[in-house]
Amino acid sequence: MKLAIGGDHVGLELKPAIIDYLKELGHEVEDFGAYSTDRTNYPKYGRIVAEEVATNNFDGGILICGTGVGISISANKVKGIRAVVCSEPYSAKLSKEHNNTNILAFGSRVVGLELAKMIVKEWLDAEFEGGRHARRVGMIGDMENDYHTEDNPCGC
Ligand code: RB5
Repeated sequence: MKLAIGGDHVGLELKPAIIDYLKELGHEVEDFGAYSTDRTNYPKYGRIVAEEVATNNFDGGILICGTGVGISISANKVKGIRAVVCSEPYSAKLSKEHNNTNILAFGSRVVGLELAKMIVKEWLDAEFEGGRHARRVGMIGDMENDYHTEDNPCGC
């Protein structure tokens, strides 16, 4: 897969090792920052990675901040993005199978490296099951279309 990855200064604690792991698994990875531990703002990276995924430049995205919460909330503001924040592998797998998530987020202050790798692997290996789940995911898309209109693209 071609994957986009990003995170804030806190996410940088895990990001380099996750990039190595993704490459070990044979994936192509592009890192959208942050590149230093200088304090920065998670919405910036949530947005960049989400836009790259939403415009189909990448097959999926991975986001890391302290908890994975702020960065996943930010990513989910971009139309077409279904980002999940996970701290265990079961939800990561089901989020792909049932919700067709296209971004996985987690927190470097919440999970250790080995657990993060397990979460990433389950998410990458899982496949969307379609069927009744496709109808429900479609309903989420309908909500986006209702809120993000031409007159009101940001849905606010
Ligand atoms: C930064 O201190 C922290 O708030 C951020 O990494 C993240 O956890 C936000 O959700």
